[in-house]
Amino acid sequence: MTRHPLRPGIVTVTLNAAIDQTLDCPGFTPGAVNRVLSETRTAGGKGVNVAALLASAGDSPVTAAGFLGRENDGPFTALFQERGIADRCIRLSGAVRTNVKLVDRTTGAVTDINLPGLTVPPDALSRLTAAVEELAAGAGCVVMAGSLPAGVPADVYAALVPRARAAGAFVAVDTSGPPLAHALGARPDMVKPNVHELSEHLRRPLPDTAAVVAAAAALHRTGIALVVVSLGADGAVFVSAEGALKATPPAVEVASTVGAGDAMVAGVVSAWCRGAGLEDCARRGTAFAAGTLAVLGPSLPPPARLDELARATAVHWLTDG
Ligand SMILES: Nc1ncnc2c1ncn2[C@@H]1O[C@H](COP(=O)(O)OP(=O)(O)OP(=O)(O)O)[C@@H](O)[C@H]1O
Ligand SMILES: [Mg+2]
Repeated sequence: MTRHPLRPGIVTVTLNAAIDQTLDCPGFTPGAVNRVLSETRTAGGKGVNVAALLASAGDSPVTAAGFLGRENDGPFTALFQERGIADRCIRLSGAVRTNVKLVDRTTGAVTDINLPGLTVPPDALSRLTAAVEELAAGAGCVVMAGSLPAGVPADVYAALVPRARAAGAFVAVDTSGPPLAHALGARPDMVKPNVHELSEHLRRPLPDTAAVVAAAAALHRTGIALVVVSLGADGAVFVSAEGALKATPPAVEVASTVGAGDAMVAGVVSAWCRGAGLEDCARRGTAFAAGTLAVLGPSLPPPARLDELARATAVHWLTDG
């Protein structure tokens, strides 16, 4: 099945952007003086990752909205410039959170140190809401992704979803915990929890594919057009008006699974915006996810490899719509 393509333009909203800082520190010992051999800093946060991946895939124009801190917006500005992403992020005083990953390559141990980030003042939230409404009116799709910084209420996505939908955009939400619970009540067009996030939301285990499909189908019946539940290496379940299917990725080399979910969101949105049916959305979403596993950071393999991964994805239809 194919649908009409959406009007061009994808907007991502990142309220809790982050700098991912990796420190190469062989033999790291707590309580001792440790020497760091090298350091890398990359711009991160779920919506930023989705924007970066869509822009690399040639899905333009891509616009990044959300909050950044004036003290450390350099890596974001550089990423947006490098990938041709329009920068509509609101700068606040202070710095977004830095997530330090201390890597000891002699043992493979990784120590995470997460610094606090921005506190968002109330007037900034109204500016963001106005920006999202304006951008949604000129875009086919709005992706709202990630956790929330201090000062932002848990129902923020629930407030933004109806505004962006009323402006005519297809709205996808990828978050967890209370923001997910609120967002589901606002019925976005697409959600992509992983199985742990959905199970936490439902307060019951989802032990097998049948349980995941039933839970995803129940969400779909509440009025969410496209429900994707990802299952890590096992793939993902997709439910829309066309029915339900499970997509299993081909065997691929895994350098890092960080951001696999963001890549899946980017791939599904990329296909949906082009008017693809459920199976092609599942194939492209899985290809993006599998393609990003081989590299560190939000990058994709060349288009020919993405097509190959999409073809190699195993699709198993479970029900017809
Ligand atoms: N180890 C793996 N091997 C193969 N494919 C994987 C692996 N991990 C993830 N994937 C692919 O990536 C997709 C999304 O992964 P996952 O369910 O881990 O997302 P997530 O938990 O939301 O991740 P994120 O940390 O980015 O939020 C899966 O549906 C699958 O296609
Ligand atoms: Mg995720």
